[in-house]
Amino acid sequence: MEYASDPVCISDLERVAKGIMPSGAWAYYDSGANDEQTKHENTLAFNNYRLHPRMLRDVSTISTETTILGQRARTPLGVAPCAMHKLAHPEGELATSRAAAATGGIMILSTYSTTALEKVIQPGGPQYWMQLYVYQQRSVSERLVRRAESAGFKAIVLTIDAPVLGRRLVDARNRFAPPPHLRLENFLQTEVASMPGYEGGEDAHGETFGETFGANGDQSLSWENGIPWLRSITSLPIIAKGVMTAEDTRLAIQHGCAGVIVSNHGGRQLDGTLATIDALPQVVEAAGDKLEVYFDGGVRRGSDVFKALALGARAVFVARPVLWGLAYKGEKGAKLALDILQSELELTMMLSGTRRIEEIDQSYVYQPVARWVRYAAGTNKPVAKL
Ligand SMILES: Cc1cc2nc3c(=O)[nH]c(=O)nc-3n(C[C@H](O)[C@H](O)[C@H](O)COP(=O)(O)O)c2cc1C
Repeated sequence: MEYASDPVCISDLERVAKGIMPSGAWAYYDSGANDEQTKHENTLAFNNYRLHPRMLRDVSTISTETTILGQRARTPLGVAPCAMHKLAHPEGELATSRAAAATGGIMILSTYSTTALEKVIQPGGPQYWMQLYVYQQRSVSERLVRRAESAGFKAIVLTIDAPVLGRRLVDARNRFAPPPHLRLENFLQTEVASMPGYEGGEDAHGETFGETFGANGDQSLSWENGIPWLRSITSLPIIAKGVMTAEDTRLAIQHGCAGVIVSNHGGRQLDGTLATIDALPQVVEAAGDKLEVYFDGGVRRGSDVFKALALGARAVFVARPVLWGLAYKGEKGAKLALDILQSELELTMMLSGTRRIEEIDQSYVYQPVARWVRYAAGTNKPVAKL
């Protein structure tokens, strides 16, 4: 579909990106695990939370400024870590980083970025956080952490929902492999070549690397052996990404995490979980004031950002919308995606009578129909109907 103007909302951007990208790369970005129930539910579930606006308040001056990990940010809207931005555009993560710097929210860089982490940080930009996967060869992960710390990243985001890769049927059907010219630039060839099962040549690319990493993830990682290890190699705050329950939130507190990201990996890992917006309230309740709670999954409107903030998230991240923007027009397109969401957030704030991020609390959302029941851990006994 052709438009006379730039896309004006995220679903326009999605359609345009789909028309531009090679179908295999599009499907890799788009896909969720198995039946994609969770992927779809993440977006749909926002509809069950209605806004509860207040009128006749002076909204002539509003601000989305906030603090995250004690540092000022111009907006709570940030970029979630996603692999291989160069699949969307040759400037890849650098373009995304410039877009994030212009918008002023946090950018989380994926371990599997196609631009080396040292090249990504923009002067005067937002906070950058480094996402981490842990390998059986912990020295490989340790090197990434140390490099991130000296490059100026402000936190380590440990992804905890991927001890093994989810089954993405579309990618399996397509036998998707990244194009040979792409490099996962955070890794040394020698490092990967020394991992068991490596079968690539001297100049291996994404495909061979991907299989090797998949086979060498540390499946024995646990709260007890993972967080203290990470703590011993870095003084950066540790954020656990992929928390979906009150129970794991309490463990994150116990192990000294500075924050958790409520996330189900955009529905790409375990299919059939709650939508993240439905999981958020129990995490916020368990977190209290002990750690910061962030959020991602299915955000396609500024009003979705508003709802997540109202339910207690301190920052809200998006992945696919930014990738669609990148595919559309590189840095300009990624910025367009963030600008659309930012301006929709500001519009929602004004139309709901909120002027500051701190004012957006639970009283601004309303869940008219009780949709799910919370069960006591390990039982089928309902404990709360939300
Ligand atoms: C193409 C793609 C690649 C991703 N790569 C990573 C990754 O390398 N590390 C990670 O922790 N999460 C990764 N994610 C998950 C995102 O960080 C995020 O949790 C999720 O996609 C947010 O949902 P949204 O895409 O609906 O905004 C990826 C997501 C996508 C779509």
